[in-house]
Amino acid sequence: MLSSYLLTTLVVLASASLLFYGLWLLIPIISGLPWLPTNHERVRAALDLARVQPGDLVYDLGSGDGRVLLAAARFFGARAVGIEISPLHCLAARFLALINGVSDSIEIRLGDFYKADLRDADVVFAFMTSRQARRLRDTLPARLPPGARVVTVSFDFDGWLPTRIDRENLVFLYEMPPTPGSLGDFLAQEQN
Ligand SMILES: C[S@@+](CC[C@H](N)C(=O)[O-])C[C@H]1O[C@@H](n2cnc3c(N)ncnc32)[C@H](O)[C@@H]1O
Repeated sequence: MLSSYLLTTLVVLASASLLFYGLWLLIPIISGLPWLPTNHERVRAALDLARVQPGDLVYDLGSGDGRVLLAAARFFGARAVGIEISPLHCLAARFLALINGVSDSIEIRLGDFYKADLRDADVVFAFMTSRQARRLRDTLPARLPPGARVVTVSFDFDGWLPTRIDRENLVFLYEMPPTPGSLGDFLAQEQN
């Protein structure tokens, strides 16, 4: 009797975990951008490059488990908003913010970063593929206030001149409105 109860409990728990893990992986993939977290060193390097200040409002477009938001709040004294399409990632990020004692500085919004209101952003963090980047590039300048900084990990924006770059971590910084140009122009300027 007891062993059949135990077995049922184990089967239910295993099925729930499998379902959770499946949805955890699947929802971002269906949305077109898998969950691939930025490693913590690169997160720090990106926020450093963007010169995040206490009180700045930092957005992470596709905030995953919330690590960028956590770093912005814990190490830079910033406020941070994550836009995330996966409800499970939103839950996990809220839980991590809570246990790290920074939930007052962090907000996670369930939604689509292509449509999110970014009018009050000081800094926008983005880690995505060049496909998403192309779509974002066309709408981002109109959605951001002048002077906002956009920091990208692993990709640069075609047609925009970076303001600063971190070669070691492959992180690029842009200031709004973007200056026409390219990464090649930036590197050529550096050599002169
Ligand atoms: C490459 S991960 C980056 C996670 C986090 N920013 C980091 O650097 O660790 C991309 C995240 O974007 C989310 N995502 C994909 N498409 C999205 C969309 N249109 N709007 C909001 N979030 C999206 C995925 O669910 C995933 O968590």
